[in-house]
Amino acid sequence: MSQVLHSLPSYLQADQLGPWGIFLQQVDRVTPYLGDLSRWVETLTRPKRILVVDVPIQLDDGSIAHFEGYRVQHNTSRGPGKGGVRFHQDVTLSEVMALSAWMSIKNAAVNVPFGGAKGGIRVDPRRLSRGELERVTRRYTSEIGLIIGPTKDIPAPDVNTNEQVMAWMMDTYSMNVGENATGVVTGKPIDLGGSLGRREATGRGVFTVGQEAAARIGLELKGARIAVQGFGNVGSVAARLFAEAGARVVAVQDHAGTVYREAGLDIPALLDHVRRHGSVLDFPGAEALAQDSFWDVDCEILIPAALEQQITEANAGRIKARLVIEGANGPTTPAADDILHERGVLVLPDVIANAGGVTVSYFEWVQDFSSFFWSEDEINARLIKIMRDAFAAVWQVAEQHRVSLRTATFIIACQRILRARDLRGLYP
Ligand SMILES: NC(=O)c1ccc[n+]([C@@H]2O[C@H](COP(=O)([O-])OP(=O)(O)OC[C@H]3O[C@@H](n4cnc5c(N)ncnc54)[C@H](O)[C@@H]3O)[C@@H](O)[C@H]2O)c1
Repeated sequence: MSQVLHSLPSYLQADQLGPWGIFLQQVDRVTPYLGDLSRWVETLTRPKRILVVDVPIQLDDGSIAHFEGYRVQHNTSRGPGKGGVRFHQDVTLSEVMALSAWMSIKNAAVNVPFGGAKGGIRVDPRRLSRGELERVTRRYTSEIGLIIGPTKDIPAPDVNTNEQVMAWMMDTYSMNVGENATGVVTGKPIDLGGSLGRREATGRGVFTVGQEAAARIGLELKGARIAVQGFGNVGSVAARLFAEAGARVVAVQDHAGTVYREAGLDIPALLDHVRRHGSVLDFPGAEALAQDSFWDVDCEILIPAALEQQITEANAGRIKARLVIEGANGPTTPAADDILHERGVLVLPDVIANAGGVTVSYFEWVQDFSSFFWSEDEINARLIKIMRDAFAAVWQVAEQHRVSLRTATFIIACQRILRARDLRGLYP
């Protein structure tokens, strides 16, 4: 067990490792394939820097509220930290640590010149007014301003944060340093140095690698049945692109309900329904399913694109799909991963499948530095090339070592990270 192999820092409890414990198990699985670089492997099991901040704001009623904020820089051997900021009432240090580590792996897997980082505030943004949300964002940005910056660590949106939150972060940081620093965050509005194609990038990446994987296992996309969990930024774009390629999106689940239609759901109409009603619930012409029945749906492709730890020992045996494409971060537990593997279900892991977002974030950062902006076609073409090349490399390593695509992605990424570490050497 990882808990025994890795000596834990004093701020973690062995019996409460949470998502970080999953990452440690993934490191254990890759270690035998690292050769001489394995002497550096403990680098991966200790984040480089963790900042925990208090975020006090005045609420609209005049009272003061304090929120817990984090920024974790897992590894910066290959470049500045890069990773989103999540606003959620259940955010924990373990979760932010794991998400920051998966960013290190993802950035190395698609070979963009970033390390891995992640941030979060333990707050339910739905309970804040717009003014309160802005104050939380600005105070948090000031607090973590010590360690972020265009060449140090570049945040981006994640769950419950969006272009507006990025605009406030950019403005706050710029005010504090006394210059316009558009490159301090990505996922900004187009009018403030954002990139065309960024909003759709993660879903487009999911579709691109899904297409490649389907071709390798002889799965025809035309007519293939697809089930999607999560119909937000990632899930809705992936569903639309698969539907446009002729697949039938038969089931969609979000936080409020599950809808099913054997002939395929009309995705543009479903998007419109969600825009007007806030969820997929009561979508006309579709059958409503109980939330748990989603996992029993007959389909060829399953796309978890909502939250962590959705595919578990409890439901992995029920999944009918031949291919699982992880749009979300960490949706499959290691035990469920093993069950799917034994049942011959191919899992396209998050660390490659949802890397499209950070790839276009990289393009946004490059465009901000040069203040020269590319067309959407250029961005999509470059994104698709990077995703296809990264997928091909992962597939080849998986065949060579007879390992899962997840372990293969970790092999490629950890070798890149630790090679950089080895070349740089230890300072001083
Ligand atoms: N946005 C990006 O660029 C990006 C990039 C990489 C990874 N991701 C990951 O993808 C996942 C989704 O992110 P997003 O940006 O699409 O978020 P989002 O907030 O836009 O959408 C989340 C969706 O999940 C649904 N959902 C929430 N709780 C659920 C539950 N219990 N059961 C079923 N559905 C539920 C919501 O209703 C919503 O449809 C997250 O794991 C995120 O870390 C996002």
